[in-house]
Amino acid sequence: MSVFLNGRFTPDAEATISVFDRGFVFGDGVYELVPVYSRKPFRLDDHLRRLQASLDEIRLANPYAIDEWRELILQLIALQDFADQSVYIQVTRGVAPRDHPFPKGVSPTVFVFAQPLVTASAELKRTGVCAVTAVDNRWSRCNIKAISLLANILLRQQAVDVGCAETLLLREGWLTEGAASNIFVVKNGVLLAPPPSNLILTGITYDVVLELAAAHGIPHEVRAISEAEVRSADELWMTSSTREIMAIVTLDGVAVGAGVPGPLAQRMDALYQTFKQQVMRA
Ligand code: PDD
Repeated sequence: MSVFLNGRFTPDAEATISVFDRGFVFGDGVYELVPVYSRKPFRLDDHLRRLQASLDEIRLANPYAIDEWRELILQLIALQDFADQSVYIQVTRGVAPRDHPFPKGVSPTVFVFAQPLVTASAELKRTGVCAVTAVDNRWSRCNIKAISLLANILLRQQAVDVGCAETLLLREGWLTEGAASNIFVVKNGVLLAPPPSNLILTGITYDVVLELAAAHGIPHEVRAISEAEVRSADELWMTSSTREIMAIVTLDGVAVGAGVPGPLAQRMDALYQTFKQQVMRA
């Protein structure tokens, strides 16, 4: 597999970094994950804008201009022998002796690789998935797509430990997001989404879902959602670049609505798939 590391394309086995990379030692870096369908990156410019926002938040200068990013990502995509890819981009604060303050005169480490994109099977879409809830005990800068994901990993594992797909996070009685996804609620035909803030990572998929809702006249509201509303939802969905739109049919062992993927989830998934096809053809 060819990967991109610090300005060069190289086989993954030959791509090495220093043990003093601040990404390795401190988790001092940010990332993006871009889905690629038939070698066409989906919403690449939005992902690159969010990467810029994350870099700004951690006060790390962007090593590349947007055109340079676009070019190197397209080259990496072309080098793979599979067409549907998930492209992972990571930028860390580079290599320096271990000390907390920002090192001076150090170049960031840039690592980009592609893996085969595995989206939900038709069977999983038909059945939906189960989820659990947990207190959102992460820090208060969740809008940064930081590589230091320890809290998210521990939270997500709580779901995996009981055979579920995702952990829904509640902060002081309000829904934030999933451990690795955004969460939507449907109640009485209205699609509800928690508002962008420092307490969630606003997904690119989240934006697309709200755009599609607006374009197709689906009633929707972006507002704070209480735990009680989550627990009495007609439908719950999780969304992300890899999971797309996935219905949650059981929450903490209790059926969500009818306990099967709801009509709005199925409609949104169909709209999303059509939208993807259009983007691929463009
Ligand atoms: N994560 N919130 C969190 C905490 C996430 O980790 C993700 C996605 C999202 C959804 O973002 P998007 O729709 O842009 O994928 C929201 C990716 C897929 C990951 O870490 O692998």
